[in-house]
Amino acid sequence: MTAATEGPGNAPRPLTVRDFPARKRNGEKLVMVSAYDALFARLADDGGVDAVLVGDSLGNVIDGRTSTLSVTLDQIIYHACAVRRGLQRALLVVDMPFLTYQVSVPRALLNCGRVMQETGASAVKLEGGGPRIARVVHAVIELGVPVMGHLGFTPQSVHALGGARVQGREPDAAQRLLEDAKRLEDAGAFAIVLEMIPAAVAERITASVSVPTIGIGAGAKCDGQVLVMHDLIGLNDGFSPKFLKRYAALAEDARRALRTFAAEVRDGSYPGPEHSF
Ligand code: KIV
Repeated sequence: MTAATEGPGNAPRPLTVRDFPARKRNGEKLVMVSAYDALFARLADDGGVDAVLVGDSLGNVIDGRTSTLSVTLDQIIYHACAVRRGLQRALLVVDMPFLTYQVSVPRALLNCGRVMQETGASAVKLEGGGPRIARVVHAVIELGVPVMGHLGFTPQSVHALGGARVQGREPDAAQRLLEDAKRLEDAGAFAIVLEMIPAAVAERITASVSVPTIGIGAGAKCDGQVLVMHDLIGLNDGFSPKFLKRYAALAEDARRALRTFAAEVRDGSYPGPEHSF
């Protein structure tokens, strides 16, 4: 560990948004996961991820909904506060929920400001890259709040996009994504998530902007990758998009453990003398 990566008392130095473009310049990949509570955040931090996103995917993963649209500002703040308590080193990024930033610049400023004030986050993430959202991104950054962009399949627009589909397959759609990415870069975004776009399009965008791209279903040439933690550790095994790789099978382990617990309670072998006072 070097002085650049150490904090006080040799503790790992918490990452800042300035580390992200620097990583791209140095050709070092960025690793981000979505998580929603202190326990998962601590595991992610222990696992050495660079950023934890409190994603509005919590609407699907935690709340059992079919989209992210129902997630409120109060809910995301509650989860972000929990994640904050689990982190020492990784950057905390908070997703701004549907309707909290699209309606007007003043409303976006108040809501992003509230997230920063109440959660201790280092940045917020906003979906979209058209001229209107780029103006919001610029204003939020002028307020002093770092912004991560999000292009491609943007789940808050799931109905307009006709479902969770790959975006940017046609040349004009790919060109629009590239223009959106450049607009977000010009607005000052410190990183851009690229979700479900062809690998070749993501590669072109990645080569065209100075800020890091973080892919999910966007191929290997992005500057980093993000997955929902519950998906990658195999806890959420009902969700199997093509881009997902499971690195563990914890749902199966959990079911096995619960079946064994139930059997032992029923046959009287749990609790044993060693578990009793
Ligand atoms: O909500 C989320 O978790 C996300 C990531 C998957 C990028 O937006």
